[in-house]
Order: sequence, then C-alpha cells, then structure tokens
Amino acid sequence: MRSSRETFPWQTRKAGCHKDCTAGVCTGKTAKQMAESFKASDLIITPATTFKEKPDPSGLVFGAVFTDNMLTIEWSLASGWEKPYIKPLENLSLHPASSALHYALELFEGMKAYRGVDGKIRLFRPSLNMDRMVRSARRAALPCFDQNELLQCIRKLVEVEKEWVPYSTSASLYIRPTLIGTEPSLGVKKPTKALLYVILSPVGPYFASGSFNPISLWADPKYVRAWKGGTGDCKMGGNYGASICAQQEAMELGCQQVLWLYGEDHQITEVGTMNLFLYWINENGENELATPPLDGIILPGVTRQSILDLARNWKEFKVSERYITMSDLTAALEKNRVKEIFGAGTACIVCPVSKILYKGKHLHIPTMENGPQLTTRLLNKLSDIQYGREDSDWTVLVS
Ligand SMILES: Cc1ncc(COP(=O)(O)O)c(C=O)c1O
Repeated sequence: MRSSRETFPWQTRKAGCHKDCTAGVCTGKTAKQMAESFKASDLIITPATTFKEKPDPSGLVFGAVFTDNMLTIEWSLASGWEKPYIKPLENLSLHPASSALHYALELFEGMKAYRGVDGKIRLFRPSLNMDRMVRSARRAALPCFDQNELLQCIRKLVEVEKEWVPYSTSASLYIRPTLIGTEPSLGVKKPTKALLYVILSPVGPYFASGSFNPISLWADPKYVRAWKGGTGDCKMGGNYGASICAQQEAMELGCQQVLWLYGEDHQITEVGTMNLFLYWINENGENELATPPLDGIILPGVTRQSILDLARNWKEFKVSERYITMSDLTAALEKNRVKEIFGAGTACIVCPVSKILYKGKHLHIPTMENGPQLTTRLLNKLSDIQYGREDSDWTVLVS
C-alpha cells in the first residue's frame, strides 16, 4: 500500500506548500487540515427502517435487485473527503453537467460476500479490489483514498445488510464500489467534486444457462477492447460502455461473448469481461497453463491472480503469463494440443469455452471433452475457499 506521505505522480505541489495532499491536487492550503482519506471510524449509520422483500436466490438475475442500504462518501478539492454514511439506498441527485455523465469520469469494482457453510460471511481477497480501485482512480484523475478505510466501510455495510447475503452456496452478495466525478462543469479537466458509493446486489449464477455451461466466442479484430497507453487495465466505465456494441454483434452471430483480439498478429487478450486461460501442450511439448501478461491492455483480475497463485503452488505443470496469438491457437488445435480454454472472473469464477468463431470458421475447443479437469478443479478449489469449506488467509470475515 502506498504510504500516506507519498506524493502521487500526477500531483503538483504549489510553491511554499509542504503538505502532501494524497486526496487530490495540491491546493496550497497548508493551514487547513484536508481529509486525505475518509475514515471508517467516522461512519455515520442511519439504516433503512423499511425493508424490501428478499428474493429467492435460485431465481436471481445478475445485478437486478439491490439491498436496502448504500454507502456514500463525498469528496471535494476544497475540503477533501467527508465522513462516510451508510443510509437507505436512494437515487442520486446529480447536476446534468457532472463529469461522470459527459466524459465517463467513472470507475468501479466488482467483488462478492459469500455466506459460508459455517454461517460466517466472507470476502475474497478484497484488498486486491481496493488496490485496483485506487489504481483506477489515479488513472481517471479522481481522488485517491486509504484502501483499508474503504474496506472497513464495506465490511460494515455488508454487516448491516447481512440478511441479504444469500443462504446458498451457488449465490452471493455482489458488491459494487463506484467512484464518479460530480463537478457541475463542462470543462474537460480533473473534477473538483466526486462521490464514492457502494451498492449491493444479491446474485445467482452469472450465465442464465447455469454457471458451468460452456460458452461460444466471437473473435474478430473489428472491435478493440483496450490498447497500450489506454485504460484497459483499469475498471473504468468507458471500457465497458464501448464494448456493448461488439457483444451485441457477437450475439447476432450466435456467440455468447467476444474474444478480444489485439494487434496485427491477433493476440488473444480477454473474453467478454473475463481473463482468459489456455491449458495446452505448448510448442515445446510441455503441459502449460497460459494467460496473457499484464502489459497494460489486460485487466488484472483477482480471479486471474488467484488461479496463477494456486497453479504455481501446485507445481504440476508450467504456468505462464505469455502472449498467445490466434495462429498459435489454430496450430495447436490442428495438432490436438489444446486441453481446455476458460474465462475467469468474480462473476462466474471460471467459465469453459467450447467454440470460437474466427474468420468465418467455427473452431471447436475440446474443453468439455477433457473433463474439463483443470477448470473444474479450479472452480472447486476457489469456491471451497469462498464458502468456507476450506480455511484460507485469502478470505476476510465480515464480522
Ligand atoms: C475486462 C475484465 N477482465 C477480467 C475481469 C475479471 O476480474 P476479477 O477476477 O477481478 O473479477 C473483469 C471483471 O469484471 C473484467 O471486467
């Protein structure tokens, strides 16, 4: 974690100012005590007194139902961070010129709370989400904050809403931390006002067809998700808004998700909103689990990191962060060297791939015929940790 004394790269200090304002650009107001981060100990909790009916976890659709309360924290350049509030979920009141609405100054996170088999509620590696959120904030020129303080506020919110965490090991409570620029100005500039909020939504399996049905992908260089120097390695709203048209086209072509390609050599990067893994016999005849490296166009997924950590720890096959092109893949398919391809992300944990539509041809991926052994093993291992069937220091108890 970055120390609170460290100056962020984009900050410029005014002449004569000796204060490191981690919450925003330097205002030069050395006399005024700016809140560099909100504090969980300042939380003001005024929870809802009327309650919505909780849905049956088996019929949940992703992100459609929200709990009774939300967390909100306001920031301004003039005053820094205000106190955090947990209060009834309500619509936001935004000026129509807010920078989030015009210039997509918006970022978010996606994580989950799981009700374990022991009745305890756990978060899975939440500090990775908090770190990623601060990295996104820095890239979006939105204010930074102390990751641990936000994590403590989120734990408190989930505790207030604990009855919303589904009593089920195939459902969970999705947590959506969000940070938006709220300055009422049409200037294309770093905003002087922002709002951080967290909403919660009980969710079931991500894919309507059930979480372990294989998916088909559309691979076409027509649309590009991310590029070097862009924002693809951050969870900024603009990345996702721009992807919907491609997702739509994939569906019109009978595929479920987009396989995002990059560059002249059609590097394989990500699947829809998941990281991609290929388990194969590589060019040197070695069993290898491969995923593209974090070179700026890949979102550093928490699930991706966890799969790499687990597989490296198993020491049973080579584990690589390496480039994979469509021609590497087609050559391997011709020689029967591909064992499994799967997407990985918080929403689904892992999702097997059975087909790729590329250059007008349907490539059959033999993931399901091969078990899928590794995909299943990873799903079981990660869900055992998340639902408390296995002890792990990757989980953080909510209370
Ligand atoms: C583009 C993209 N890649 C990968 C992921 C997976 O990340 P995580 O494992 O942290 O959910 C996500 C998650 O939403 C994503 O949006």
